[in-house]
Amino acid sequence: MSDPTPVLEARGLGKTYVDAGGALTVLHNVDITVKAGESVAVMGASGAGKSTLLHLLGGLDAASHGEVWVDGRSLTGLGERERSRMRNQSLGFIYQFHHLLDEFTARENIAMPLLIGGLAPASAGEAADAMLDRLGLAARGHHKPGQLSGGERQRVAIGRALVTRPRCILADEPTGNLDPHTAEQVFQQLVEVCSERGGGLVVVTHNPQLARLLDRRLTLADGRLADSD
Ligand SMILES: Nc1ncnc2c1ncn2[C@@H]1O[C@H](COP(=O)(O)OP(=O)(O)OP(=O)(O)O)[C@@H](O)[C@H]1O
Ligand SMILES: [Mg+2]
Repeated sequence: MSDPTPVLEARGLGKTYVDAGGALTVLHNVDITVKAGESVAVMGASGAGKSTLLHLLGGLDAASHGEVWVDGRSLTGLGERERSRMRNQSLGFIYQFHHLLDEFTARENIAMPLLIGGLAPASAGEAADAMLDRLGLAARGHHKPGQLSGGERQRVAIGRALVTRPRCILADEPTGNLDPHTAEQVFQQLVEVCSERGGGLVVVTHNPQLARLLDRRLTLADGRLADSD
């Protein structure tokens, strides 16, 4: 039987940025539900608020109103420490530019979230090796990011996001920086590894062809999120 608790849910989510120039409302009452094993594309024009939405869903920024639940647990009201523990245990992030640690090898970058989560180094290394193997990077484990191609770096970033077996992956234009052919390969690999693991996947992309590889497509416009099929 499938698990009825959504891996990620938001209700009435709003965000208004206030600075010296005035107030800018980027999101109005956004609702989203992502079930286990489900993949969702978020599309929309530049400046529509897609990255803002992912930051709120991942607890990286606070909403002006509304609530977010990760695996049935509310992010609202958690302190920074608790929120970062929930991020480490339940969520995985992938960015347009890999954000890998340049001083560490591919293997060490992938093992990092497990070490931060308190796993013994030997077990973290084994899990990183299995992930490198799964991503076709077994021969690249000892390379640092500067010695890897752009596509390889993004695959390491995918490995780092997935190694903790998070309930949901949040990816912000994860292949936006790659040539079209490599982008499709890396994107496919992300979708495959996520679906094998049964978690949720939310991907911001500007590419409608890549969005077609996911279960559902949503478009953000005028601060509102709507089905776009
Ligand atoms: N910290 C901030 N303070 C003020 N305004 C902000 C802040 N962050 C984002 N914005 C504004 O919010 C709007 C949405 O930004 P966001 O980065 O979410 O867009 P996006 O849909 O991800 O765009 P892109 O496709 O270009 O990445 C933009 O108009 C941006 O200028
Ligand atoms: Mg963005």
